[in-house]
Amino acid sequence: MRASSVKTVAVPSDDKRWRLVNATMRRHGSEPDALIETLHTVQEAFGYLDDTALRYVASNLKAPLSRVYGVATFYNFFTLKPQGEHNCVVCLGTACYIKGAPQILESVENLAHIMPGETTPDKKVSLLIARCLGTCGLAPAAVFDGEVAGKLTADDAVHKVQEWMKS
Ligand code: FES
Repeated sequence: MRASSVKTVAVPSDDKRWRLVNATMRRHGSEPDALIETLHTVQEAFGYLDDTALRYVASNLKAPLSRVYGVATFYNFFTLKPQGEHNCVVCLGTACYIKGAPQILESVENLAHIMPGETTPDKKVSLLIARCLGTCGLAPAAVFDGEVAGKLTADDAVHKVQEWMKS
């Protein structure tokens, strides 16, 4: 009898942050028990949990999607993808923190008048924080609509978010 083949699920994109997610799943034996730990890693890397991530994690851990959604919505330390048309995720991990991430975050907060986890009343901009984007060499880093921007300054971030607010 041939050995059963292990079905691998393709990563949603070539975004390096999926490597962090995969490493967590592997470390926990890619079992359904790894669910909470894995969702933590997704949130720390992406700032929130979206449908793509939840489906990917469910397939890899062989857990029912309903259970994954249940866990993601039950615990208030998890954030589902915010409602904003645009998302800004500022990394507050150690490497970014010491290179000025707090100033970047504060500038965006002051500009958009929102705190992390919030969306502007016109639903244009959502602000989130992450704990490491897996690109520490580019610190300080943030993600604007899925695009990682490294060696960022507060002015760069303000400029970007201002464009969104004007559009
Ligand atoms: S700490 Fe910010 S990318 Fe790693």
